[in-house]
Amino acid sequence: MKLIAVIGAGTMGNGIAHVFAQKGFKVNLIDTQEAALAKAIQTIQKNLDRQLTKNSIDKSTKASTISNITIKTSIQEGVTNADLVVEAATENSDIKKNIFAQLDQYAPSHCILASNTSSISITDLAAVTKRPNQVIGMHFMNPVPVMKLVEIINGQQTSEATTETIVTLTKTIDKTPCVVKDFPGFIANRILMPMINEAIIALSEGVSDAATIDQIMKLGMAHPMGPLQLADYIGLDVCKNIMIIMQEGFQNDKYAPSPLLVQLVAEGKLGVKTGQGFYTY
Ligand code: CAA
Repeated sequence: MKLIAVIGAGTMGNGIAHVFAQKGFKVNLIDTQEAALAKAIQTIQKNLDRQLTKNSIDKSTKASTISNITIKTSIQEGVTNADLVVEAATENSDIKKNIFAQLDQYAPSHCILASNTSSISITDLAAVTKRPNQVIGMHFMNPVPVMKLVEIINGQQTSEATTETIVTLTKTIDKTPCVVKDFPGFIANRILMPMINEAIIALSEGVSDAATIDQIMKLGMAHPMGPLQLADYIGLDVCKNIMIIMQEGFQNDKYAPSPLLVQLVAEGKLGVKTGQGFYTY
């Protein structure tokens, strides 16, 4: 495994490019928007500086990480020599299927196609390719350079050899692989999102205020962030969409996004990225 192509230069894509490049892999970071690529490189530099200040990396690692990343605006050009593609585009099924069809067309036949999807079915993405045995989920957590987990999702046709390769690779970049089956929300979000949703319901019922709800979960459960702060950090639109995918996938209204969550999203209050969510930024 030498060249890894990462599709999408947003928060997850730049974090994924960062960790692979830091561990010595050549990375093609691909996005159709040049401005997004420029911003991603700035973010990676800022996060490397943060690691440098904390002495978790040295100056030569910072330099080699940056030089290992090449930016590309064409999927075809970016994946043509890739051994692995990690897709981290917008969390939308049609967009991802369109990308997977292109990846299947342009990536070499040995190349594994992974998706960083947080909830879209890997089996459905694999179905648009002629290599469903080489399609797998690699669900990284935000912030990618810090979080140890990679949730590995086997689609119905993912081969054992593909899973083994991705599990080994995940360990190589100092992350811990946890292998799960392709069910709505997988494991991470199936458990995280109902907790966040329940915190929002408790807030809307007036059981307590946002800061107190978060404090209870931080001090009582040793969570690094309370559920409402974490929802703001993840993005309220993302939380709502994942709840809907589980509600529809399980045909069970226990996963219905709470009315307050739906209302905040409709008002454009999406959390940190818009400056307003449960808190003001
Ligand atoms: N890049 C590199 N390093 C970073 C970083 C980044 N983007 N963000 C933070 N760090 C480093 C800091 O330099 C610091 O390093 P040291 O331990 O060496 O000092 C460390 O991470 C802790 O950061 P801070 O001291 O700045 O802040 P903190 O202690 O408050 O931690 C946090 C910040 C790591 C984000 C912590 O609050 C946390 O773990 N929060 C929960 C995050 C979480 O749950 N993520 C999963 C979200 S769900 C998801 O991603 C999946 C999905 O599908 C929705």
